Amino acid sequence: MVNISDKELTVSAIKNGTVLDHIPADKVYRALELLGLTEIDNQITIGINLRSKGLGSKGIIKIADKFFDQDALNRLALIAPQCTVNIIRDYKVAEKHKIGMPEEIIGMEKCMNPKCVTNHQPIKTRFSVIQKDGHTGLLCHYCEKITNLK
Ligand code: CTP
Ligand code: ZN
Repeated sequence: MVNISDKELTVSAIKNGTVLDHIPADKVYRALELLGLTEIDNQITIGINLRSKGLGSKGIIKIADKFFDQDALNRLALIAPQCTVNIIRDYKVAEKHKIGMPEEIIGMEKCMNPKCVTNHQPIKTRFSVIQKDGHTGLLCHYCEKITNLK
């Protein structure tokens, strides 16, 4: 439930589950897709354009009774490395961590090289995450071409 008043926007607490906090406001929809949250029955609360000290305006996603594996968090890290993952148990923040940028990404994103073996055989893609000219790139383990993150 989202309560909107003139000056403040608050999102209600959850009992058990995961709170993904400090998501850049414009990445919230993409995050929902990446995490497969558009297709599950769990109760999900979303806040967008909430005021934040560090980010200016931020997004938040609260998912009741759901805990993510590392692969899912790595996918999220690609678009929102500054995101904070809070594990909630019995209304308390039981764990809190920043996800950070993963070193390796396996089985997501396609290699931009049409000739890459991963585009012709049933092989999972595998990339090292690199920073180049201020952008995040994915260096293919198989063909060594760099795929830019959109
Ligand atoms: N939260 C929640 N349900 C709970 C407890 C916490 O939805 N039962 C949410 C809070 O609304 C907050 C996040 O989980 O968005 C983290 O909670 P907390 O650590 O208490 O908040 P902050 O100190 O503001 O977190 P940070 O320092 O990471 O900004
Ligand atoms: Zn490749």
